[in-house]
Amino acid sequence: MVVNGKKLNIGYGDHTVVRDMDINIKAGKITSIIGPNGSGKSTVLKALTRLLPYKQGSVFIDGRSLKDYSSKELARNIGVLPQMHSAPPDFRVKELVGYGRMPYQKWYQKNNSEDDKIVDWAMRSTGVWELREKSIHECSGGESQRVWIATVLTQQPEILFLDEPTTYLDIAHQLEMMQLVKKLNKENGIGVVMVLHDLSQALEISDWIVVIKDGKKYDEGKPEDVITPKMMKEVYDVDCDIIHIAGREKPLIAYKEIC
Ligand SMILES: Nc1ncnc2c1ncn2[C@@H]1O[C@H](COP(=O)(O)OP(=O)(O)OP(=O)(O)O)[C@@H](O)[C@H]1O
Ligand SMILES: [Mg+2]
Repeated sequence: MVVNGKKLNIGYGDHTVVRDMDINIKAGKITSIIGPNGSGKSTVLKALTRLLPYKQGSVFIDGRSLKDYSSKELARNIGVLPQMHSAPPDFRVKELVGYGRMPYQKWYQKNNSEDDKIVDWAMRSTGVWELREKSIHECSGGESQRVWIATVLTQQPEILFLDEPTTYLDIAHQLEMMQLVKKLNKENGIGVVMVLHDLSQALEISDWIVVIKDGKKYDEGKPEDVITPKMMKEVYDVDCDIIHIAGREKPLIAYKEIC
């Protein structure tokens, strides 16, 4: 499943924040969107997933306009984890995760055994199985982040859109999340588009990186071609070296020492 955004102008009210954005998401790949705070990453993600209407341009999914998809059909094809999300009160974890199955059901249906199997799988793969009887409001920030990923996974999407999926996670859980993303991509063939702030993780996991600066595409390409000292200076105003280490496939980013 491919997603093609063309000449997109996107914004809020009269204010256009993203201009002239061409963005192409390749099937079955991991694409990361990077850029400074406020540069427009979430805005682009929202427009590609119909959470926000774009002002000009077009978005096509597998050659069909995003506007022509019914909500359920869209939810069976793409799963979205927005940057901000809140759960309705008094939901238990397993109930919330179970709601991810709604795009596959008629309004009068409840989860059947096939749905239950998928819900169990999603809770186990994201490590929230132990939390399943807890209220979502009793979960920590990191736990609730994983519960949301589980919910999105039960939609069995072909593409996952994740806006900063590692927010609130400690380093072990960040790495676990990245491993989960990689596994879903490799073993289940799910395409992933995610906004990441950790550029070392983006470098390591992505097949393709799109860099956004001030609402415009600054560059895109393979991680090693895009993440360079020049880009880091021009986009983030940060000095760094890219260091290659024997025995390690991907290079590391070494930021200038903090004085
Ligand atoms: N709901 C909104 N209403 C009005 N302006 C908004 C809204 N959401 C974002 N903006 C503005 O749009 C611009 C781009 O915001 P966006 O959320 O896309 O940035 P971002 O790159 O995702 O940043 P961050 O890394 O902080 O999440 C910013 O100037 C922001 O203030
Ligand atoms: Mg954002």
